Amino acid sequence: MVVVSVVGSIHMDFYIRLPKLPQQDETVVGYGFTMLPGGKGANQAVAAARLGAETYFIGRVGRDVFGSQLIDALKISKVNVDYITIDDTTHTGVAFILLNSSGENMIAVAPGTDHRISKDDVNRAADVIGRSNTVLLQLEIPLDTVVYAAKIGWRSGAHVILNPAPAIQLPEEVYKYVYAMTPNRVELSMLSGVKIEGFNDIIRAGRILIEKGVKYVVTTLGSDGSVVISEYGAVHVPAYKVKVVDTTGAGDVFSAALAVFIAEGMDIIDACRMANAAAALKITRMGAQSAPSREELIQFLKSYDMAEVVSR
Ligand code: RIB
Repeated sequence: MVVVSVVGSIHMDFYIRLPKLPQQDETVVGYGFTMLPGGKGANQAVAAARLGAETYFIGRVGRDVFGSQLIDALKISKVNVDYITIDDTTHTGVAFILLNSSGENMIAVAPGTDHRISKDDVNRAADVIGRSNTVLLQLEIPLDTVVYAAKIGWRSGAHVILNPAPAIQLPEEVYKYVYAMTPNRVELSMLSGVKIEGFNDIIRAGRILIEKGVKYVVTTLGSDGSVVISEYGAVHVPAYKVKVVDTTGAGDVFSAALAVFIAEGMDIIDACRMANAAAALKITRMGAQSAPSREELIQFLKSYDMAEVVSR
């Protein structure tokens, strides 16, 4: 079994479902409220564990009801929670998610304990990071902790995968630690300084990050699939067509699936196909931690391929 460590955020997601997303100064009356576990880091950990990796989550929660509920949710998905610190100084991270009837969202986050995740948390988990095949990171925790975790992972020979969300400028140092970066269009544009209007811009922008030291830039394009860019060229990997319920966390599931299949030794293009499929299954369900199990993924791929053959 491959080992994946995730250093990152964990939230209780407060969802309101609405017919349409509000504009500034507008009030829209919704038709449903629910609380579900989330946070980019925790979402990635759950997805990696469901896809069959021995998964460790390194993060912080507050000493409050959300913290314990979120830890329970991780345990149910068989994520190891030994490296979660309970931090008395502030609240567990929360996110407010507005979700429209097309499955698109707007998200606001109050990070709470996420913003206290430190190098010490990474050091406490040094053993598991040291024996991880892949270290998965995102940007909802302090940047110096992300850079430190990337460095520790890289030094120990793990493949470091950085999902640069939400986008912020990164120190030059970090790029050389990263095996694969998984930005969406907006994040790619911000990191590269290239305005993304078409496919050629994606390739140009990806190459800028490759020149900084990243081995693969895997850009997620929603219903347009994803693009793998390396020093050798660019390959477009199409999306799977599904009925969209909730796109929240699709990028997290994509990054986690990529991490698991790369850890298993799969070629990056095939791993990207699997990640597209895992993300497609996720968006058919509510909640950011509704990643498919490995069995569900395999079943989906079999039935999807059959459906494609029949419709041809
Ligand atoms: O990527 C989706 C996640 O972003 C949500 O679960 C929310 O908590 C925010 O962190």
